Amino acid sequence: MAPATAIHLTLLALFLTGATAYTNHTVGDKAGWLFDPNTNTSSANYASWSANQTFELGDYLIFNTNTNQTVILTYNETTYRSCSTDNSSDSDTFSYSSGNQQFGQPLTVAVPLTIEGANYFFSDASDGVQCQNGMAFGINVTHGVGLPPSLNQPPPPPYVEPPANGDGSLTPPVSDQPSGAGLSDGVNVRRVVCYVLTFCGIFCLFLV
Ligand SMILES: *[C@@H]1O[C@H](CO)[C@@H](O)[C@H](O)[C@H]1NC(C)=O
Ligand SMILES: *[C@@H]1O[C@H](CO)[C@@H](O)[C@H](O)[C@H]1NC(C)=O
Ligand SMILES: *[C@@H]1O[C@H](CO)[C@@H](O)[C@H](O)[C@H]1NC(C)=O
Ligand SMILES: *[C@@H]1O[C@H](CO)[C@@H](O)[C@H](O)[C@H]1NC(C)=O
Ligand SMILES: *[C@@H]1O[C@H](CO)[C@@H](O)[C@H](O)[C@H]1NC(C)=O
Ligand SMILES: *[C@@H]1O[C@H](CO)[C@@H](O)[C@H](O)[C@H]1NC(C)=O
Ligand SMILES: *[C@@H]1O[C@H](CO)[C@@H](O)[C@H](O)[C@H]1NC(C)=O
Repeated sequence: MAPATAIHLTLLALFLTGATAYTNHTVGDKAGWLFDPNTNTSSANYASWSANQTFELGDYLIFNTNTNQTVILTYNETTYRSCSTDNSSDSDTFSYSSGNQQFGQPLTVAVPLTIEGANYFFSDASDGVQCQNGMAFGINVTHGVGLPPSLNQPPPPPYVEPPANGDGSLTPPVSDQPSGAGLSDGVNVRRVVCYVLTFCGIFCLFLV
């Protein structure tokens, strides 16, 4: 076998291994992340759904939802139990939802798991009614193979002591976001960073 071919096969194997090391978990499977306000019920039992999964650093949670629900990630159990972001801190609670869209617009939200241990998710829409009626679950993220380079980047820096502002505003875990930008901007920034880093990583392998 020509050396060049062997190198290419090695790189391909590395790439495929890397690509399969992480899992995308579709929240609620086919039922999605939805709430029926007429019956006050969630479309799935998310505690049961999550009980059957293993969550590792670098995995994503994929929320198939619409703009009637929100997706809040918090590492703070008090915030989670309160079903509200009112008193939450920018450093441990992140909103992946844009607040100014029309009701009922289809939306897919991809949340990367970047912190080990307890990660809590809930919808804070309808003043906590959704969360109190099933739109909430907690998971335990384990180390697995660790974060991929694409996610092992400065943003977000959780557990940094925030300036005291007490107002608990919602900020997605992307620090260079222009003000007023919504969910899709933040996610796109992350994607672009992710792709750039992936390609840089592959390129560096060629340099070795
Ligand atoms: C998992 O989801 C992320 C974010 O949407 C995406 O970039 C990635 O390609 C997905 N991976 C797989 C294996 O589907
Ligand atoms: C849903 O639950 C909230 C309180 O959790 C209650 O105020 C509301 O009336 C309920 N709505 C229906 C349709 O049952
Ligand atoms: C979880 O897995 C167990 C066995 O692996 C199965 O019996 C159960 O139905 C599953 N529960 C859900 C909610 O998928
Ligand atoms: C968790 O959030 C609550 C407000 O919801 C705050 O009072 C508390 O200090 C936070 N806990 C930690 C460990 O930051
Ligand atoms: C936020 O803090 C205030 C003042 O301590 C308290 O009255 C309120 O109940 C808290 N809200 C939530 C959702 O925990
Ligand atoms: C979204 O909420 C609005 C206002 O409560 C309601 O009229 C609409 O039917 C909901 N749409 C979906 C898809 O749940
Ligand atoms: C999370 O999983 C790790 C490893 O299995 C375990 O040591 C830890 O106690 C778990 N934490 C929680 C909050 O369940």
